[in-house]
Amino acid sequence: MTIKIFKFMIYCGLILIATSRLAFAAGNPEAGKVKFVMCAGCHAIPGYSNAFPRFQVPKLGGQQADFLLSALKSYAKGERNHASMNGTAMSLSDQDMLDITAFLSDLAFSENIDRNEVFGDPVAGKKKAKNCATCHGNKGKSSSPGFPNLIGQYETYLIHSLTQYKMGKRKNPMMTGMTAALSEEDIKNIAAFYASQKKGLSVPIE
Ligand code: HEC
Ligand code: HEC
Repeated sequence: MTIKIFKFMIYCGLILIATSRLAFAAGNPEAGKVKFVMCAGCHAIPGYSNAFPRFQVPKLGGQQADFLLSALKSYAKGERNHASMNGTAMSLSDQDMLDITAFLSDLAFSENIDRNEVFGDPVAGKKKAKNCATCHGNKGKSSSPGFPNLIGQYETYLIHSLTQYKMGKRKNPMMTGMTAALSEEDIKNIAAFYASQKKGLSVPIE
């Protein structure tokens, strides 16, 4: 009798593990590609710029999956603020987010042929970026799915996001700490360093 109950409990446990794995299953990149159409107007145009403040809309191709998902959830909850991204993310279901994230993170890095426009000093930036390598890698290819890739990202977007952390407008304990001691000059140079890499994040275009 007790053994029967015990067996039944193990059986239930196995089902629970199986279904929770299913619920956790990664998104479908094919479905994500179709859903990405609603993002293309801003994210699939190379060099496309946000109006105010002016900075280029981030490249998402080849970005880390867990980071993308957490960014979308933060916008949906209003923890991260940008009017059009808040609206867009709120309209997505969990499955939409998983599918789009799977599509984007599967995309390959691209050659930075047109080279991002770079105004800062990449050599000075490389020195300042030493402390960032533990999480973001030597050249900005991060060491874990939760840490965003910075390699090949637009200089203007990197400056924008670093400044936001420094000003406390975008909140993350690690990044608030990491940007506290950076000067405006440091931020520009670090951004130039990651933006000038030969190969990196891509713009998802057909
Ligand atoms: C109207 C233009 C616009 C549309 C449409 C749009 N985005 Fe964005 N997206 C932006 C801008 C601008 C930012 C940077 C906002 C900020 O400063 O946080 C951004 C940021 C992001 C980020 C954070 C990236 C990073 O590196 O921090 C993700 C992820 C993202 N968008 C995904 C999407 C997805 C998925 C869709 C479609 C479902 C979408 N966006 C639609 C303009 C747009
Ligand atoms: C301990 C790990 C860690 C270290 C060290 C670190 N970061 Fe980060 N970084 C993160 C995490 C986690 C995020 C994502 C936070 C979020 O969701 O806003 C992030 C986000 C960023 C972003 C935003 C990327 C985007 O696409 O929106 C930039 C830019 C960045 N870091 C640059 C740096 C720089 C420059 C340094 C060094 C001065 C640095 N980081 C050091 C963990 C780290």
